Amino acid sequence: MEALITLLPGDGIGPDVTDCARKVLDAAAQKYDHRFQYNEARIGGAAIDATGDPLPPSTVEKCKAADAVFLGAVGGPQWSDPNAKVRPEQGLLKLRSMLGVYANIRPVRIYPELAAASPLRAEILEGVDMLVIRELTGGIYFGKKTRTDTTASDLCEYSVGEIERIVRVAARLAGERRGKLCSVDKANVLETSRLWRETTNRVVASEFPQLELETLLVDAAAMHLISRPADFDVIVTENMFGDILTDEASMLAGSLGMLPSASLGDGSAGLYEPIHGSAPDIAGKGIANPCAAIASAAMLLRHSLGLDREATAIEHAIATAITAGARTADIVAKGEERLTTSEMTAEIIRHLA
Ligand code: IPM
Ligand code: MG
Repeated sequence: MEALITLLPGDGIGPDVTDCARKVLDAAAQKYDHRFQYNEARIGGAAIDATGDPLPPSTVEKCKAADAVFLGAVGGPQWSDPNAKVRPEQGLLKLRSMLGVYANIRPVRIYPELAAASPLRAEILEGVDMLVIRELTGGIYFGKKTRTDTTASDLCEYSVGEIERIVRVAARLAGERRGKLCSVDKANVLETSRLWRETTNRVVASEFPQLELETLLVDAAAMHLISRPADFDVIVTENMFGDILTDEASMLAGSLGMLPSASLGDGSAGLYEPIHGSAPDIAGKGIANPCAAIASAAMLLRHSLGLDREATAIEHAIATAITAGARTADIVAKGEERLTTSEMTAEIIRHLA
């Protein structure tokens, strides 16, 4: 097939890992006889430096024209002045909103060989396989913000429609898996969470009665994710809780460098990004873990291009490379050899061939 993919390398290690994702996409295209064309555009700090705008109109155009968008990472200390009016992250949030990608799918997959990289005991990690579905275009991230010298506020708003559509995405996915859905909120304190819980209960009871629905408060969920992670199948939650819980969940996998994500709306186009940030401390050193980016590229093939076989092959190649002992610095155990970003990518491509 032919497809147009827009690449947004962004900042920090973003360009490093985007390059790896592209190499793996090219390897898959060659193996399975597809033709992928790429458009590249600026976002985040790189776009601020070049144009003053973290999401220039030309970037939006290229994203809207594409079958799928791949993003590396945004942000860095040089753009982190608390008084700055423009910030790299604004570009990413605006892009998510403009593309309407309200459903952020974050799979938490465990590679048994990496158990030593996780701070948790190996027996707790046994059988961990979950999807976190994070609402991505609403909530406190997008509410009105105010600031004076002495006060600040961020408004958190959710509508029934926004909750219904994300719950449906999560419930459908749970139906294709182990049939367990866990909704996370803070309904003992927040009004938005009470609406979230009411809506979730209603949608699941009326449209997905076969699912087992569990409801957890976010503080308890943070604890249960560590004490009984294997019990979770699909978790659905609002924007900020999902942001926090998925960084926590990445420690089950051993590193933030392992977790991919797909952000989808109602059509097939989507935005794909590793869940990690721009890691400015290791940017340009060639040691970043490309696995999250490469696994995000696999999700792109599956969800936006319908290439499930190719996606599975890439995921399998990551797993085989890891089984064969390929490790970047973030997941290396004592005495093991450390691979650079490009060596790790080459290993994965070798296992894909
Ligand atoms: C993520 C990141 C972003 C978020 C930042 C970079 C704005 O942490 O994708 O998880 O908070 O959504
Ligand atoms: Mg985050």
